Amino acid sequence: MSQFLIKGGKKLNGDVEVGGMKNAAAPILAATLLTSDDCVIDRVPRISDVEKIIEIMKSFGAKIEWTGEHQLTVNCANVNLQNVDKKMVKSMRASILFLGPLLARFKEVTLPEPGGCIIGNRPIDAHLFALQKLGAEISREKEFFHLKTTGLKGAEIILPEFSVTATENAIMAAVLADGITMIKLAATEPHVQDLISFLNKMGAKITETGTHTLKINGVKKLNGARYELIPDQIEIGTFAVAAAATHGEISIHPIVAEHLDKILSVLSSIGVNWEIKDDALLIHHSHPLRAFKLQTMPYPGFPTDLQAPFGVLATQCQGTSLIHDPLFEGRLGHINELIKMGANAVICDPHRVLITGPTPLYGQEIKSFDLRAGATMIIAGLIADGETILNEAEIVYRGYERIDEKLRALDAEINFVK
Ligand code: EPU
Repeated sequence: MSQFLIKGGKKLNGDVEVGGMKNAAAPILAATLLTSDDCVIDRVPRISDVEKIIEIMKSFGAKIEWTGEHQLTVNCANVNLQNVDKKMVKSMRASILFLGPLLARFKEVTLPEPGGCIIGNRPIDAHLFALQKLGAEISREKEFFHLKTTGLKGAEIILPEFSVTATENAIMAAVLADGITMIKLAATEPHVQDLISFLNKMGAKITETGTHTLKINGVKKLNGARYELIPDQIEIGTFAVAAAATHGEISIHPIVAEHLDKILSVLSSIGVNWEIKDDALLIHHSHPLRAFKLQTMPYPGFPTDLQAPFGVLATQCQGTSLIHDPLFEGRLGHINELIKMGANAVICDPHRVLITGPTPLYGQEIKSFDLRAGATMIIAGLIADGETILNEAEIVYRGYERIDEKLRALDAEINFVK
């Protein structure tokens, strides 16, 4: 077990560079399974989720090497599924992303049901539904899925919901299917678009033909490609909230402004002063902050992955804020930790919380429930009086590269101890 030790009270100040998008790295690495050629992926974050994906893919026989500080070179020519690290697959929800490409490549795949973090009940029905539409026969034995096809065929897939990874799986299976696939109710998060750009660079033919509708003309073969991941808008949002909550002044780069539309409009409604200059987001001193209403939604709505940090910001806002996350029923665990630190918050039901501020927070010994909740509690520690001890700190490294080092460079007092 590891801990972050945080001494609160310092305003953040300075420049911070964010990494590539965690949730783009996962599908894009999975997509390299679709070709025997070399792929080179740039701006890959050095986070433990990426290390885990690399380990799983190596157990498939993929050759993967760090060829630069943030560059991976991948070759999947000699993949075979005999030695798959089943325990590792089971421990990671994102390993569901291997189903589509492996089925497209080998016509048969057996994988354990993926596990993952404790943010709610996330069924994989939408994934299986999409692959079945494309011609997979699916059977289930104990904890294993067995998928088989005589050849994937283009189809119309109306997804049951805007599921990010189900959309990605459907796309990765359809690119090599025979004929045309239409995916309706497709998720269009920036990371889904990033996967599409990468696949098109590999020779796929994917176009967006309407709102949340994708058209895929199947091709016979994909080539290798070199590709740079988009910057992580969740990491950008996390630093923006940390700066606003500490009444600091920071510059965050690089950014893609259009990915931040909804996040920035919520920050404006709270009274956070921000500015976009070239490829940087500047957060200026912001005081006072106003209470807000926030509901998470599929993109271009407000991302569920950022609702937790906004909960800490709400403790510093004047009035009562409402945060509503209809997507997950287990994503408010950090609120009880915030209450221990002095927050005035009422959990109304598994999806909604009311937070009244402004209230001072006090350092406590608390824990990280999941990756985003962990980053959130770091921000709480940064504004708290005294010392905060955040247990299970390693969870945060699943998605935030060197977060403590980056915060120290912004004048924060935070240390990681094993
Ligand atoms: N859902 C709805 N309505 C919708 C869309 C989704 O109820 O319109 C529900 C689904 O039923 C599901 C849950 O929301 O239970 C999650 O949705 P989804 O299937 O899109 O989640 P996912 O694909 O498993 C990805 C990210 C998550 C992120 C969600 C939502 C990856 C590897 N994971 O998961 O990332 O929270 O989309 O945007 O891309 C994280 O980074 O911390 C993380 C958990």
